Amino acid sequence: MFKRVPGTKDILPDQVFHWQKLEETSRNIFSVYNYKEIRPPLVEDAALFNRSLGEATEIVQKQMFLIHSAPADSASAANDVYALRPEATASIVRAYIENSLDKTARFAKFYYFGPMFRMERPQKGRQRQFHQVGCEVIGSQDVAVDIEVIALADRLLKGLAIKDYTIVINSLGCPEDKKKLAALLRDGLQDKLGKLCVDCNNRFNRNVLRILDCKHQDCQDLVKELGISDKHLCQDCQAHFEKVRTGLDSLKIKYELSHFLVRGLDYYTRTVFEIIHGGLGGQQNALGAGGRYDNLVSDLGGEVTGAIGFAFGIERLLMVAPAQESEPRQKLAYLITLGEQSRAQGLLLLQRLRDAGVPTDTDFENKSLKAAMRKADDLKAKYVLIMGDNELQKNTVMFKDMELGEQKEISLDGIVEALQELI
Ligand code: HAM
Repeated sequence: MFKRVPGTKDILPDQVFHWQKLEETSRNIFSVYNYKEIRPPLVEDAALFNRSLGEATEIVQKQMFLIHSAPADSASAANDVYALRPEATASIVRAYIENSLDKTARFAKFYYFGPMFRMERPQKGRQRQFHQVGCEVIGSQDVAVDIEVIALADRLLKGLAIKDYTIVINSLGCPEDKKKLAALLRDGLQDKLGKLCVDCNNRFNRNVLRILDCKHQDCQDLVKELGISDKHLCQDCQAHFEKVRTGLDSLKIKYELSHFLVRGLDYYTRTVFEIIHGGLGGQQNALGAGGRYDNLVSDLGGEVTGAIGFAFGIERLLMVAPAQESEPRQKLAYLITLGEQSRAQGLLLLQRLRDAGVPTDTDFENKSLKAAMRKADDLKAKYVLIMGDNELQKNTVMFKDMELGEQKEISLDGIVEALQELI
């Protein structure tokens, strides 16, 4: 028997209802903020991610699902390497540039849903195929966009009735500030490497900023001793961050400030944020995260322009969203035919109902009346139509309202109109 690939999940029809609800709520909120949906491909040139997320990041080093295009593929060079996207920001920036939006639209607000792929060790809240809902605003360095994007993340969580989350914010500063911060860390930790965990020893050489958000207590204590604050930020970046905070305060959006928040992707500059929730369990506590990436568009060949966005993990959102009501009874009419003749008539009725747009289904398993009724109940059908010999003779159909528990005979000629009115 075949099994799912580890770290992937089947989203079965009874769960899809919750996904659709989440998508519907998110879409409504995005449209209130005037964001437009974008659907980039799931597969991209692997080099796009190496370039944007950073060669030294964990995702690029260990987690990419790579596909080597076959030499016979005439559409590509023999040694092309594709990747299933580990995130969507880089794809959206690529699409923005490739479709010349940096020259035409310039300022654009996008939102997206979709699967992402990372070859991680599967555990609770961490999958190899997971889904994100997110947004990207490209074309402005204005602080008002930082405020809108964080307010939008907060609004989404409120719209999904999620409580007890914390928005943590920080500023990494411009690339020069990031270099200053990296130098501060290197100088401060140079002779303490023996006390840092193995991962941080690797990070020291490759991606020193990530030592700031190491989960090991020893590493955290050592980093605290360095007294990292916002002193490495240049005046412009300090002023920008100050305005972000004032804006959030004026909108009464609660946040915590952490100088240790750095994020795992290289493209970030200035404002970064993470939304954490204690209810996720396991080692993962981030519901979502985001930040500015003011250099990415030009790094990927576009105009110099600011950008910011965020993404939530949908599986994680669903883990902490309050238990939803289950799927309501559908406005489905379930037709039960008894006997050969009524089956033939039933086929015609089914067609008439569907032509009229009435959601209808029937028993395809030749069940007994009792078993077919049970099936209608399992399907949460709102109405049941029964056609037996008796009804056939009278040119009627027995109509049952499953919610009210009432039943009556209706003429076969009038049943379509009767149901159209009800639905
Ligand atoms: P990220 O922090 O890598 O950021 O991922 C965002 C969210 O996706 C995480 O907070 C988490 O909820 C979810 N997530 C990540 N990996 C997994 C996994 N293996 N299993 C389940 N959920 C996961 C980004 O992806 C950036 N592109 C966000 C962004 C958009 N920054 C700017 N714009």
